Amino acid sequence: MRTGQDERMANGRRKIAVIGAGNVGATCAFVLAQMKVADVVLLDIFEGFAKGKALDMSENATVLNYDGRITGTSSYEDIAGSDVVVVTSGFPRKPGMTREDLIGKNADIIQQVGSGIRDHAPEAVVIVVTNPLDLMTYHMQKVTGFPHERVIGQAGVLDSARMAHFIALELNCAEEDVSPMVLGGHGDTMVPLPRYTTVGGIPITQLMSEDRIAAISERTAKGGGEIVALLEKGSAFYAPGSAAAIMAEAVLNDRRRLIPASCHLTGQYGLDNVYIGVPCIIGANGVERIFELDLQDHELESLQRSGNFYKGQLTDVLGY
Ligand code: NAI
Ligand code: 2OP
Repeated sequence: MRTGQDERMANGRRKIAVIGAGNVGATCAFVLAQMKVADVVLLDIFEGFAKGKALDMSENATVLNYDGRITGTSSYEDIAGSDVVVVTSGFPRKPGMTREDLIGKNADIIQQVGSGIRDHAPEAVVIVVTNPLDLMTYHMQKVTGFPHERVIGQAGVLDSARMAHFIALELNCAEEDVSPMVLGGHGDTMVPLPRYTTVGGIPITQLMSEDRIAAISERTAKGGGEIVALLEKGSAFYAPGSAAAIMAEAVLNDRRRLIPASCHLTGQYGLDNVYIGVPCIIGANGVERIFELDLQDHELESLQRSGNFYKGQLTDVLGY
């Protein structure tokens, strides 16, 4: 039997698997194709859906000048040899739902998908996107049994990008000069950190009023819901898919990006055995390092409230 390593050696190309060919998964695959960093395998429970999207993207290769192979499948054998697996399979929320309303159905999907990854891509770094994000990332680590640093949740890149956009609108400045920091869980308990958010190196606390910062923080925390309310039929996918692709590339190219991501905590910030968004370095081994920021009392309390909320859900709803 060919192992994942054999597969890699055979074609000499790197490989990223994206599980779930829906809105987020297809966007992630499309962004990765344009980054030209690896071959992409798109896996969905509906084989034709994955194959159709992969073929459509492949037929676009000449137009956008990328030449990595994009293939669709429903078989886990095809993800063998993946360096990174991005997991987007699962139900999105609809208007009126919280991310936590998705727990039961999506936990079953993570169980199935996690087993496939464990058996067929045992060396991969796994980036979870499925909601409720912090809980599904914890669940994925348990199902795969992979080291904690090789199972990471995508939330902070997206939540920070949303905050950056709102700040750029407010200051009428270039988006690329905004460097935001949003920690905590990917939900109502999210913790935007204005003191650690800068524009051109200047903290936003020096650039705008407290009221405007509070309004931007509030809009950031409710950013996903704002889009769900507008779309009515699903949730955001362009920014989420791109955020996951950025993380996959950071792993693949050992970029050692310092970004917020959902990581397993072992006492940092007074939180233990829970996945929650914190600043970390993402490189070839997944989470290379977690940073403990010097937080003021109210900031730390918010982060702990967020972490403890998810800890409660892990026990009460998922039975951990
Ligand atoms: P979608 O409904 O467009 O796509 C989900 C795909 O998963 C579907 O194609 C479906 O067939 C597939 N799927 C379902 N069960 C599967 C299984 N057992 N194996 C393989 N594939 C399976 O949903 P969308 O919009 O792509 O969202 C996906 C997930 O990502 C949702 O849970 C959503 O809440 C979450 N999300 C998370 C974000 C984050 O920042 N962490 C941001 C946006 C969405
Ligand atoms: C978002 O934040 C729903 O988690 C998804 O857009």
